[in-house]
Amino acid sequence: MGWETVLYSVLAGVVTAPLLIKLFYPHFYTDARFILKTLPIVKLEKNIKNNVSVISRFIQQAAARPDRTFLRFQEETHTYRQMDQWSNRVGNFFHSRGLGAGETFAIFMLNEPAYLAVFLGLSKLGMTTAMLNHNLRSKSLLHCFNVSGAKNLVVGKDEVLRSAILEILPELQQQGVTVWVMGDQVQENGLLPLVDEIEAASNAPIPEELRSGIRMTDIIAYIYTSGTTGLPKAAKVSYGRMVYASMFLVLCGVTEDDVVYTALPLYHSAALCIGLAGAIETGCTWVLRQKFSASRFWDDCRKYNVTVVQYIGELLRYLCAQPKRADDKDNQVWAAVGNGLRPEIWTEFQERFNVKDIMEFYAATEGNVGFVNVLQKFGAVGYASPLMRKLRPCNFVKYDVATGEPIRDENGWCIETKPGENGLVIAPITKKTFFDGYAGKKALSDKKVLRDVFKKGDGYFNSGDVLFMDTEYFVYFVDRLGDTFRWKGENVATTEVSQVLSEYEPIQEANVYGVKIPGYDGRAGMASIIVRPDQSLDLPALYEHVTQYLPSYAVPRFLRLGQAIDVTGTFKQKKVDAVEEGFDPQQVIDPLYLMDGSGKTYRPLDLDLYQRIIKGEVTVN
Ligand SMILES: *[C@@H]1O[C@H](CO)[C@@H](O)[C@H](O)[C@H]1NC(C)=O
Ligand SMILES: *[C@@H]1O[C@H](CO)[C@@H](O)[C@H](O)[C@H]1NC(C)=O
Ligand SMILES: *[C@@H]1O[C@H](CO)[C@@H](O)[C@H](O)[C@H]1NC(C)=O
Repeated sequence: MGWETVLYSVLAGVVTAPLLIKLFYPHFYTDARFILKTLPIVKLEKNIKNNVSVISRFIQQAAARPDRTFLRFQEETHTYRQMDQWSNRVGNFFHSRGLGAGETFAIFMLNEPAYLAVFLGLSKLGMTTAMLNHNLRSKSLLHCFNVSGAKNLVVGKDEVLRSAILEILPELQQQGVTVWVMGDQVQENGLLPLVDEIEAASNAPIPEELRSGIRMTDIIAYIYTSGTTGLPKAAKVSYGRMVYASMFLVLCGVTEDDVVYTALPLYHSAALCIGLAGAIETGCTWVLRQKFSASRFWDDCRKYNVTVVQYIGELLRYLCAQPKRADDKDNQVWAAVGNGLRPEIWTEFQERFNVKDIMEFYAATEGNVGFVNVLQKFGAVGYASPLMRKLRPCNFVKYDVATGEPIRDENGWCIETKPGENGLVIAPITKKTFFDGYAGKKALSDKKVLRDVFKKGDGYFNSGDVLFMDTEYFVYFVDRLGDTFRWKGENVATTEVSQVLSEYEPIQEANVYGVKIPGYDGRAGMASIIVRPDQSLDLPALYEHVTQYLPSYAVPRFLRLGQAIDVTGTFKQKKVDAVEEGFDPQQVIDPLYLMDGSGKTYRPLDLDLYQRIIKGEVTVN
């Protein structure tokens, strides 16, 4: 065969191949683009295989770029070397106190640089940290601390945190817990001051042997999630999962030259796993804010030369709700990375603040399934073509809207949905797509696992989330099923709220769910309650009870005074009806009430108030 023939057949191939590909597998080009964009995963999976943890990566980065700014917080700047040495001092101090691998240490702090020094320092000793939500108080706080199994607790320097701990100190001391405070002068009631001790400790690197036994399946942190049952659960975050989380910023194209801005709490996986671990992996500069502020957001971005911002859906909405300013476009931000963004905010945000890329992703803290919208399809969280689902397995199955359970066919198997339908997302539990589970009773973790899904003996993680897949295989987040709903970016566990309500004497029964308010993200909490026949409801007292025992986002925004709750087999069905009826006095015969934060009570919700909420004249927050 002469070279011309070869050339011609090659040319013919080049010309016809695209046609054939388009005809037989029309998603080839999208797949190819997606694979190219997600190539960094290969490197990260190698890190997992070679047991290279986020902590090892931090130490490597500190050696590679010691003088690069690692962290900016208010007026403070910490280079990689400084943070490395600070965390060494933390590690060396606690090592000298006999602490080490295999033990858990709880952290109860607001966002501040010391939080990172403590987290990194304890991790360098191979310890597990429990990231307590700093909004928790009394019973919930004690519960969360308890399930972590920690015998040590470090409290931030802030007065509000100290007083929350002093409230539960007798119980903690009874359990032999040592409480440390990130302050210098405190020596009250057995709280041990920490700042001077750490200042005086050695800078020397923590010997690697101290963490050499650590495996990717071991737990680096507990992050609390409001699960579908009862009080918050401590989701186990393994070293391996942290490595996976660290890849989101990499996939979004963040490099060492970027400055990433995070105004989310460190006790959540968004800031800790996506933000911190991602900053470490990319070697960029991380700007941390104590608390999100819509009015200061862009001033901060200008002040620190921020190039990438992290968000959760509501956050960008709050930014768009700010009064327009002449300098709205005056920033260097090219990407916003996060999840939960509603389509109606998407373009408005991009245009108003001149942000080129929006990188949505979907992931659950404890889940084994995730998507990233690296192709930037409008409104989507990612892409899941058949080939992609082969590479990183997950399935979309039919579910019962009323119960949230998967629907089984006549043989007992789950039924996959077709493109163009909503489906419950599940993913097979394998060595590569693992499910870390929760601390405590095995039953807690088992509840998230589906058995005998497509064949006898298989196991799948049930995300509890409904996603829509379009005919081009792009996927969109739809809703969270069952007993949790989202409000202000937090997951609210309905059972936790019901439990707190039923501890209030006059309440006989409480049924809690989330209702949609037009123009708001997520769902606002509604408690349908039954008062004991011989008692009456004291609204200010009820308000005081719920605000004392629940974090502010979980306090019910609406009350509905019912007659009797149907607790028979159709209970779930009832809940669905109630959710549909929402807080519309024209649909609900029962008396309705709206939370009144300034009056510290609940006030009657009549048609007039209802209409003012709908029109946006009265804000529910
Ligand atoms: C990583 O850890 C596993 C144990 O989980 C071990 O079998 C393996 O040899 C380690 N790999 C490397 C490259 O050290
Ligand atoms: C925490 O654990 C202790 C001892 O195990 C127990 O006495 C206490 O009731 C628990 N507290 C909560 C809130 O679970
Ligand atoms: C931001 O960039 C400007 C111009 O490049 C520079 O002068 C300034 O020092 C930078 N600020 C920070 C905080 O890096």
